[in-house]
Amino acid sequence: MKVLILGSGGREHALAWAVKRSSRVTQVVCAPGNGGMAQIARCAPVDLKSLSAMVRLAEAEKPDLTIVGPELPLSLGIVDELQQRGLRVFGPTRAAAMLESSKGFAKRFLQRHNIPTPNYAVCSSSDEVEKAIEIFHPPIVVKADGLAAGKGVIICDSRNTAAEAAHGLFTGALLGTSEQQLVIEEFIEGDEISFLCLSDGKHVTPLVPAQDHKRIGEGDTGPNTGGMGVYSTDSLLDPAMSEWILHYIAVPTVEGMAAEETPFTGVLYCGLMMTARGPQVLEFNARFGDPETQAILVRLESDLIDVLDACVDGRLADTPLRWSSGASACVVASSGGYPGSYKNGLPITGLAAAAQVPGVQVFHAGTAQVGGQIVTAGGRVLGVTAAADSLDQALARAYQAMAEISFEGMYYRRDIGHRALKGKS
Ligand code: GLY
Repeated sequence: MKVLILGSGGREHALAWAVKRSSRVTQVVCAPGNGGMAQIARCAPVDLKSLSAMVRLAEAEKPDLTIVGPELPLSLGIVDELQQRGLRVFGPTRAAAMLESSKGFAKRFLQRHNIPTPNYAVCSSSDEVEKAIEIFHPPIVVKADGLAAGKGVIICDSRNTAAEAAHGLFTGALLGTSEQQLVIEEFIEGDEISFLCLSDGKHVTPLVPAQDHKRIGEGDTGPNTGGMGVYSTDSLLDPAMSEWILHYIAVPTVEGMAAEETPFTGVLYCGLMMTARGPQVLEFNARFGDPETQAILVRLESDLIDVLDACVDGRLADTPLRWSSGASACVVASSGGYPGSYKNGLPITGLAAAAQVPGVQVFHAGTAQVGGQIVTAGGRVLGVTAAADSLDQALARAYQAMAEISFEGMYYRRDIGHRALKGKS
């Protein structure tokens, strides 16, 4: 099989690594890829913002399966385009990906299907925002409707700041593009869980649960990022709670999408808050998480290609997944200054020594290969990932490997897994 992977982050490096383990795969093409993917696959340049460029590439490469990593190509309709050309592709159609690409669509969908989610109002003008925020108690959450690369959620401690945030989203002052609508949402508290499932449009199979660390600073402080580290262990969710989430959140979502004639095929990422009144859906993503995928795939014992094939072909119910019973952790090394501005092109050392630590995979995110040297090329640079029998051991291995790696300004959180280790999860 020839497999094309669209994307250039740590998630896509982990997907390429898992795909390459399949005995059925003879060729992997990553587009555009990164410095790490270039070491295990052929990389082909492509602009992930250009639907026509991605379609041209797929038509030229003729892969047996295309795996779409990031949300932007899904929201542009890459799956629809490739399906129309008879190409097999893993991921949701443009209409199904609206669960991620429009927060307003997702909230209304959740309400229509009685799936638990915080109270909300969808507003398309500052006047509507003024009226809506009267019925919410601060703090109030203001969310951009569209894709915002993790920057579209603003938690406001007063009605005035909520109105200002909404104004900034409508005018484009906050994100650079003007939002046509936004979501005002009740603020809720609890532990966040990433509950990712596979779906073939009918059946739902959960992956192992994970917990992300979105803030840049230790102790979950400072600005939000794309994710600074993640861990996965079965004790994150007991079997009864997993079953509840599957039954009352994931299955009704897939059934609801099918009933509305926009069947969802791909990864349904349920971003949940575990609250005193039960799990609530904070958001959906229509794709694998990053860095969740890195920690999840090192625990997958099944052949990833068999699993993704089963999704594409509608055979997921007959394809059970096998997992290692231990734990995993992924610690992200970022460029100094991230999530603000940072330098690119800085040489990275110690990668080979890090990869020698037992159970460790160093997944590249923002890296490039220049001559024989791997250099930084993004905010999140590496996801140092380890699997082990216990979470303590997985974290120890990831941090041992991280200690081998160095580049100017390198930053990483030293407290990944802290909520689990305090026994709070
Ligand atoms: N880790 C958060 C995300 O993938 O959106």
